[in-house]
Amino acid sequence: MTAPHTVTSLDLGGRTALVTGAASGIGRACALRLAAAGAKVRAVDRDARGLDALTRAAPTAAGAVEPHVLDLTDLDAAEDLAAGTDILVNNAGLQLVRPIEDFPPDVFHTVLTVMLEAPFRLIRGALPHMYAQGWGRIVNLSSVHGLRASAYKSAYVAAKHGLEGLSKTAALEGAPHGVTSNCVNPGYVRTPLVEAQLADQADAHGIPAERVLTDVLLKDSALKRLIEPEEVAEAVAYLCSPPASFITGTSLVLDGGWTAH
Ligand SMILES: NC(=O)c1ccc[n+]([C@@H]2O[C@H](COP(=O)([O-])OP(=O)(O)OC[C@H]3O[C@@H](n4cnc5c(N)ncnc54)[C@H](O)[C@@H]3O)[C@@H](O)[C@H]2O)c1
Repeated sequence: MTAPHTVTSLDLGGRTALVTGAASGIGRACALRLAAAGAKVRAVDRDARGLDALTRAAPTAAGAVEPHVLDLTDLDAAEDLAAGTDILVNNAGLQLVRPIEDFPPDVFHTVLTVMLEAPFRLIRGALPHMYAQGWGRIVNLSSVHGLRASAYKSAYVAAKHGLEGLSKTAALEGAPHGVTSNCVNPGYVRTPLVEAQLADQADAHGIPAERVLTDVLLKDSALKRLIEPEEVAEAVAYLCSPPASFITGTSLVLDGGWTAH
């Protein structure tokens, strides 16, 4: 399908946003969407080439994209970089599909660090400025896997369930200060993260790679297509818009009917 039209009328002129994992997929789409709305975007990723490409693609007249090459396992640097941001999009993530008994403990640790501890540190770094001005938006890229488990994804499912809890806690603490915190929960999105797991899923489930999409990934989705990164970015934009100011502590599910089962 073609990229969806932008429906959210959003003026983020004068706002600073920070998007992690901005070099690829959903993070890239979010950075471009927020920049198009006029925000100055701190685009954070460990992938310098991807950030270069993003910077070239970003609008120059409206907002601006400011690339920051950073590995989010450097938690102190992540927290420092979040200071002074009005909008924080915790998006960076990684996946390994492996049964628990074969799951490397060091990878489990890295997944939890990047996908749960780094968001905590980024929120921690962002809150003082948000509280001081009485306005802030925190959007956490969770997943259907923040609400449901799938076999062979122990670290990812654990991190996303943890992120749901962190997001709700930030919502309760932030409410008196004008700060909202929500999760966005897509089903499978057309990004490199999904393309990269097709072979792993085929091995883990013992089926040919070409059957993974229909038999595994979209098995529980009522809508039998991948969602586009731009559709997810539009949901993020909505949560930053004035009509969404009463939405906090919740999860905006974009799962094609998966969790309706
Ligand atoms: N693709 C999907 O189907 C899907 C579905 C639900 C949720 N999500 C979530 O959306 C988010 C983005 O996923 P995506 O599909 O766009 O992935 P992606 O692989 O396209 O992009 C992830 C980005 O995160 C960056 N990153 C990973 N580890 C990092 C680290 N240590 N430091 C800095 N940057 C790091 C990568 O370099 C990459 O640019 C993730 O949190 C993912 O869990 C994705």
